[in-house]
Amino acid sequence: MPQSIHLLVVLLLLLSYSAVAEAGGGWAPRFREAPQFYNSPGCPPPLPPSSAAACSPSAMVHVAMTLDVAYLRGSLAAILSVLQHTSCPQSVQFHLVASSSIAELNATIATSFPSLSFRIYPFDDSHVSGLISTSIRSALDRPLNYARSYLARLLPDCVRRVVYLDSDLILVDDIVALASTPLPDGIALAAPEYCNANFTSYFTPSFWSNPALSMAFEGRKACYFNTGVMVMDLGRWREGGYTERIEEWMELQKRMRIYELGSLPPFLLVFAGRIAAVEHRWNQHGLGGDNYRGLCRDLHPGPVSLIHWSGKGKPWARLDAGRPCPLDAIWAPYDLLQSPFSIDDS
Ligand SMILES: *[C@@H]1O[C@H](CO)[C@@H](O)[C@H](O)[C@H]1NC(C)=O
Ligand SMILES: *[C@@H]1O[C@H](CO)[C@@H](O)[C@H](O)[C@H]1NC(C)=O
Repeated sequence: MPQSIHLLVVLLLLLSYSAVAEAGGGWAPRFREAPQFYNSPGCPPPLPPSSAAACSPSAMVHVAMTLDVAYLRGSLAAILSVLQHTSCPQSVQFHLVASSSIAELNATIATSFPSLSFRIYPFDDSHVSGLISTSIRSALDRPLNYARSYLARLLPDCVRRVVYLDSDLILVDDIVALASTPLPDGIALAAPEYCNANFTSYFTPSFWSNPALSMAFEGRKACYFNTGVMVMDLGRWREGGYTERIEEWMELQKRMRIYELGSLPPFLLVFAGRIAAVEHRWNQHGLGGDNYRGLCRDLHPGPVSLIHWSGKGKPWARLDAGRPCPLDAIWAPYDLLQSPFSIDDS
């Protein structure tokens, strides 16, 4: 008797799994619809869903992220976390940059967030792929990883201030507070700075031994910052021609190796020592572990507004593998992946 019940359950599970696989079209897993979040009193009127409001004056916060199949699960969780922790979720406008599977990604976002105000911007990988030199971790070499340097060109001129977010993070605080970081005159970028990090180690000995190059940091108090969470003034960025300046360093890197990591060092070359500081609580980074082994890491001391799994290990992969790090449990509730084995997932 228990034997036959067991068999029936297995059969049901298999049936529901194949149904989900078919509905997903075979290209990607299916994601659940997120709950609807509503503006609090005092917020501007809600933005219309989809791309109708790319430049609405009632957008309180503009968020830019990249979108691809490999990190889609992370992106959806990040979007959900933004909406869940802000008091004006219907006033956040998302600008999503994608280079492939655009129609499918568009449909996935619209299905999981039916009333989200978002627009997808196609990014031409080939524009940047010729500028990329290989780094220590292949995931860092994806062309889309460099899209953050092109936001000023991709997004419409009416979008001035934008919060750029990586896809492997979760906010647990109101993004309005991050977006309202003061940017003093002439400063185009704000991010948490880490002046105790060994800045020298981000560039090669051949960079430091060449005065014509290392001179780039002369007269600046250059500190490391992580490019996964940034507040950017795109107007000032355009005026400063920063995309072109980043590209110049990438071209140099193609000819002589001046750094080992991917998109970060050119940002440091152009901006380190010239950014506005953001409280460290807004980028509790490094939870993915190091770039080689992906060991578990702990939070840094102090308050926490944003948790970032930068580094090799990603919470969804570790959870799937049954070997999560303790803090991956914070990410799990934001996971919108439709579990293929849950029958009564309502
Ligand atoms: C995404 O879908 C919407 C609504 O179906 C459409 O208006 C928009 O053009 C699509 N965007 C892209 C980049 O395909
Ligand atoms: C900083 O890094 C460089 C290069 O990796 C190394 O030579 C130097 O000893 C480090 N300095 C400190 C204070 O750890």
